[in-house]
Amino acid sequence: MLRPSFDLIIDTDPGADDVVALLLAMASPETLNILAITTVAGNVRLDKTSRNARLAREWGGREDIPVYAGASRPLLRAPVYAPDIHGEEGLPGVTVHEPRQGLAPGSAVGYLIDTLSAAPPHSITVAMLGPQTNLALALIQAPHIALGIKEVVVMGGAHFNGGNITPVAEFNLFADPEAAEVVLSSGVKLTYLPLDLTHTLLTSDARMQQLAALGNQAGRVVVDILNAYVATDMQRYGLPGGPVHDASVIAYLLKPELFAGRQIYLQVDSREGPTYGQTIADWHNALGQPNNVTWIASADAQGFFDLLSTRLARLQ
Ligand code: RIB
Ligand code: CA
Repeated sequence: MLRPSFDLIIDTDPGADDVVALLLAMASPETLNILAITTVAGNVRLDKTSRNARLAREWGGREDIPVYAGASRPLLRAPVYAPDIHGEEGLPGVTVHEPRQGLAPGSAVGYLIDTLSAAPPHSITVAMLGPQTNLALALIQAPHIALGIKEVVVMGGAHFNGGNITPVAEFNLFADPEAAEVVLSSGVKLTYLPLDLTHTLLTSDARMQQLAALGNQAGRVVVDILNAYVATDMQRYGLPGGPVHDASVIAYLLKPELFAGRQIYLQVDSREGPTYGQTIADWHNALGQPNNVTWIASADAQGFFDLLSTRLARLQ
């Protein structure tokens, strides 16, 4: 059997769309060797994002994957949450319970430092589905771990699309822009999947029926979560469907040919004020700075949902 293409750490703040991303990843073991799930405060508090990550692991039938709890608050700013979007429990549309399997001993930051320090050069991919606090803390404490990273793939940011938590800022960046700046300045290979992309990967009646037709628990959980989750975005943006933000990161790893983007010079604004948390994409290289990010701006939306459906069909 061929070795999976990626040794992968998923850093996440589940979160409705995070759970969809986790299930997609767990359904793809031939491509993704998930080393661990690390959790961070974001959509809801850390205790709930950590419980929800353990729930996703249970639904995915992958209790072999360790879950490490990480940062309970951003580097500097006051915490911000999104219960209005993800519900008080961080999982809309489903009834949560205490999962069987507990957390792994130790912290997410300690796990990142130990694992990335011991990894062969550029061997581990990190999928960032929430605020980048854990990786930033690890890089601050142990800058040498950057050598162990193959690529950091981030759901976050916005440029032409505008923001979803302020007029210009996307939630994950707004929740900890200082952390994003630490990751950006570390020099690791960085790919961003911003709202400009995820607001084109929208659910529809047909796509929800495609998922419901799976007839398994994974399909039912995803349909129940998305039906509850997308309603707010559809109403707020007048969209015909809702974005499945975080699953796009996993789909990008599984089928990059579905996606298109460009190399750009990216900055993150961490100054107090109306542009706090904004990502500034230098689309035409006006500043003449070297490109530092691959910015994914488009994808085959139906191809994304076909991939999601066929992979979720593999789960229980
Ligand atoms: O802006 C969307 C992002 O913020 C997603 O990762 C969602 O889960 C929230 O964390
Ligand atoms: Ca998230």
